[in-house]
Amino acid sequence: MVALTCASEGVLSTPASATSDSLRNSLAQKNCRRGTFKDYYLQGNGGDPPSSYKGRVYKLSQDYPSELPAKEEYPWLKIPFKDGGPVDPVAYLRALLDYGLEGNVAADFYVEDNKIRKWYGSPWMDWNTEVASDWPGTDGREFVHGLTHEFDSAGNTFGERQLEFVDTWAQAYVNDRYAFALGQVYCDPDDPKPGALNPDPTGLNSMPDGAFVIKLLFSTVTEAELPTVKGALEWDADIFVNKSPRFRNEGPLSRYERRIGKVRLIQIDLQVRDERSPTGWLLGTYGYDGNAKGETPWTRMTPLGLQWGNNPKVTYAETCKGPNGPCNYEPLTEQWINRQAVKDLATAPLSFNHLGFGGRLAGPVDNPKSSCMGCHQTAGFPMVPILAEFAPNGAVLGLDAEKHPETAQGLRMMYFGNVPGGAVFSDTQLYSSDYSLQLAMGLQNFVSLRCAKDAPSPRPSLCGQLADWTRLQRKAIDSVSVFGTPGPGGAPITPK
Ligand code: HEC
Repeated sequence: MVALTCASEGVLSTPASATSDSLRNSLAQKNCRRGTFKDYYLQGNGGDPPSSYKGRVYKLSQDYPSELPAKEEYPWLKIPFKDGGPVDPVAYLRALLDYGLEGNVAADFYVEDNKIRKWYGSPWMDWNTEVASDWPGTDGREFVHGLTHEFDSAGNTFGERQLEFVDTWAQAYVNDRYAFALGQVYCDPDDPKPGALNPDPTGLNSMPDGAFVIKLLFSTVTEAELPTVKGALEWDADIFVNKSPRFRNEGPLSRYERRIGKVRLIQIDLQVRDERSPTGWLLGTYGYDGNAKGETPWTRMTPLGLQWGNNPKVTYAETCKGPNGPCNYEPLTEQWINRQAVKDLATAPLSFNHLGFGGRLAGPVDNPKSSCMGCHQTAGFPMVPILAEFAPNGAVLGLDAEKHPETAQGLRMMYFGNVPGGAVFSDTQLYSSDYSLQLAMGLQNFVSLRCAKDAPSPRPSLCGQLADWTRLQRKAIDSVSVFGTPGPGGAPITPK
């Protein structure tokens, strides 16, 4: 059944890294249970739309296929690659955007109505905790479009006129090949198996080639605060009444009160598994520019950049002289950046900046000390810090991204590596989620409720694994400080 027979010279007849479609299919779990995931935050438990709400209510598209759908003739495959990246990155990005919008714009991104192809959403984002200081679950999907709450941008992030916090609300939509992989992990929705992303246990835990995501990022920012937001696509969404995370996070829970308000589309992220990339993935982004030519808000989206690798050997000092530049981005060859947009959108009074660490691509609403692929290569279960600053190692070394991004590159550059899609980023992780941070986060959300002390039985198998992991991590850490230290009678000290 498995096509890994050795030829007489001892060479594998099939490359071990690439699991074929037929192998994925023959090993896939069938008879999966579908349709059990909640749609939005506190559904049926106090989070439902008020009777005054007459609009459409979001439903998670969750009928994930258990048979791997055949690859389409994806438009991006027409663009040849050279040295690991597409020869025409702008055309490649365009092909990704067109594919992500096709049929979805007409359906107002209620993607189950798409007339051209099927689209799906990720489970377990209804109860979502994005940042440790947020109250558990409160970032979960709202009921109008299923947007989750993401980072808040403090005053001055987008420009001089934005004085107060603005909130980001976003949602990602995945194609059928991506959905197949999600569906394998959640074949039994009460007992997810993160290692089943690829049904082939001898392969990397990867998504199939052609897996694709489009993510729409909305902000509460207004035209008065960010002039280029004029004419942006506006949606209703059930969002926080209080915009300041500091105020909300002090509690009580009632400070997370939500009400219907307006959000505006300012960024579109795209992510595709294309085996021609050295990491297996390409990540790209568009930003909204109300001054751009174009009849609709969709056609006024401007390509900002595309990344297929992090250039793991290029240190900060090789591109930038200091925290405020000047910078020469030439050494970053595993990406394409729209330099004109940097000038047009990130020059005072605007600062719609899409450059991350040392000039790598990051989205305008992302952390400027990171990069698309930097954060996404960490994706796995359990989740780990996505930036050196957030890790205990960074705290021990006293990293200071604001003043000295050029120091401690030995640790920092680990966060700008090129992890092969499907391999884990860190030895503290059990499973890779192949650059999918929503899958990683969803699993974390699952565990946060289903492995809690008072959770109903039966206990999912992940809970036991996580308990073992916690105990053994602690032991490993304890043993660091006594390794080689003589105990009573000169015997080794064994940590409990
Ligand atoms: C600071 C870390 C960080 C950076 C930088 C970042 N992302 Fe993400 N991204 C996340 C997290 C966390 C999630 C999952 C949570 C969510 O979607 O709410 C995510 C989700 C996504 C998703 C949905 C699918 C998935 O993998 O979970 C896409 C697509 C995406 N990001 C693309 C991008 C692109 C393109 C860029 C660069 C322009 C980028 N991201 C930069 C952290 C980051």
